[in-house]
Amino acid sequence: MRVGILTSGGDAPGMNAAIRTVTLAAAEKKWETIGIFHGYEGLINQEFKILYPSEVQGLARFGGTILGSSRSPAFFTNDGRRLAFENLKKEKIEALVVIGGDGTYKGADIFIKETGILCVGLPGTIDNDLFGTEVTIGFKTAVQTAVDAIDKILDTAESHGRMFIIELMGRDAGHIAANSAAAAGAHACFLPETTSDVPKFFSFLEQHAKRIQKKPFIVIIAEGEKELNTQNLLKTIQIKFQNIEVRSLVLGHLQRGGNPVAEDRLLAARLGWESVNCLSNQESGVALGIKNNNVTKTSFDQCIKCKIPPANWLPELIDLGLRE
Ligand code: F6P
Repeated sequence: MRVGILTSGGDAPGMNAAIRTVTLAAAEKKWETIGIFHGYEGLINQEFKILYPSEVQGLARFGGTILGSSRSPAFFTNDGRRLAFENLKKEKIEALVVIGGDGTYKGADIFIKETGILCVGLPGTIDNDLFGTEVTIGFKTAVQTAVDAIDKILDTAESHGRMFIIELMGRDAGHIAANSAAAAGAHACFLPETTSDVPKFFSFLEQHAKRIQKKPFIVIIAEGEKELNTQNLLKTIQIKFQNIEVRSLVLGHLQRGGNPVAEDRLLAARLGWESVNCLSNQESGVALGIKNNNVTKTSFDQCIKCKIPPANWLPELIDLGLRE
């Protein structure tokens, strides 16, 4: 069998570890793994290359993806998918492993329904916003990166008694923000999943502003938060509280890079291994995940429709930041 593998959407630390394991596990079964470059774009543009086990050894520790990634509008057209399927047939690729987030799953779902190709998905996104898994590949690394950054900012915040507003990634979900805020001991955090108690926040700031000895104050905002945004919040605080020294920063793509932490490598390896087992059992149309330390299989369809909220204990933990 020839199995194609691609990474699509935002890159996430651990994608390379998944590519490595899939290639090695496929080789065990005497299958050939074909790397498809730049996500679904590579299927359309015939960007194929055989991946040999010797090439993927040593890959687990690197961030990014050796296959490159993209978000492919062309794959969401009938012509694009028709061409992609013709290219797969020419290349004699009978099965696919797709690694990415909800856009990747949406593409796979339509493609399987139209063509009947064998296809299994692996959850690769720093956002941790996929149904059917407790954690996605790349999330733990992104949170660690964010916590390291907040720790560093805290050095200045403590030295100068300043407030910092830090925006963390998560297009629609606040998982990185909530987990990082709780782990770093931030004072407040605004998430898209919860209604922000802005009056409570401002009444706390009124007390904070009256302090003779200035104290550090860290506010985390999730990128996907719609009620507040970093720049507006900065301006409002500057106007309302002139004796609070406040700065803001957007951490941005720093959170997507870097060597994956061990947990992301292990998750990628475990699910990568299982994806090859699934394909050898002719299982298709499912995304793999992890729940209670067991591997789970959820249809792409279901993964796309449902979203997971952040753990309910996180907002309570973060709330402790406003008690001094
Ligand atoms: O998919 C992960 C993610 O980093 C989101 O958190 C963010 O909103 C988005 O990708 C940014 O996408 P791009 O790199 O295309 O600007």
